[in-house]
Amino acid sequence: TGGVYTKEDLRAIVEVAQEKDLLIVSDEIYEEIIFDGKKHESVLSIPGAKERTVLVGGFSKTWSMTGWRLGWAVAPKEIADKIAKIQLNTTSCPVHFAQVAAIEAIRGPQDDVRRMVREYQERRDLIFEGINSIPGFSMIKPAATFYAFPNTKKLGVKSSELADMILNEAGVALLPGTAFGPEGEGYLRLSFATSKEMIKEGLRRIKEFIEEKFPNV
Ligand SMILES: Cc1ncc(COP(=O)(O)O)c(C=O)c1O
Repeated sequence: TGGVYTKEDLRAIVEVAQEKDLLIVSDEIYEEIIFDGKKHESVLSIPGAKERTVLVGGFSKTWSMTGWRLGWAVAPKEIADKIAKIQLNTTSCPVHFAQVAAIEAIRGPQDDVRRMVREYQERRDLIFEGINSIPGFSMIKPAATFYAFPNTKKLGVKSSELADMILNEAGVALLPGTAFGPEGEGYLRLSFATSKEMIKEGLRRIKEFIEEKFPNV
């Protein structure tokens, strides 16, 4: 799911990276999809970060150009040169129409982006209410992105088994939290990048399935 780092969080990350001489890879692709008036702070705004940070972003989220394989990286020159070398020898260049669209996306009016984020916020509220009304499920409100990450530990089933059951028996596709590492055990991940009708229908099916399968939770 999505949280929003504060400047203090970022300062702490930079401090650790400096102490241990680490590189920071900062994936800021959701920098615009943030709710409740919160503000995105880039790690690059922290003194001492830019010498050791590779910031990555892309067009897939803010401008919904998913699958067009276009993004960017901001990195110290030495690393940027190596990225360019790999890019050049693997893909030569991103497909032409996507480059033209990317220029339009950045230079054009951004009111559609604001409208989309408002819509995501409504979907976020819908899924938050809906998930918390399913027995054995609980989730915190995502501050950013279009993913919910409910805790399902009360059901006492492995996340991968639960995700399979929900897919096969309720017909709803979602991911087990363990798709993101072992700490994800006991969680599921749902995307709300779909219509409110689909979200309502998905929640209805999950709820019906859980109430039938786990009547004592
Ligand atoms: C955090 C994060 N970074 C990057 C990406 C990848 O975006 P792209 O479509 O440009 O590969 C995703 C897509 O789900 C994402 O969630």
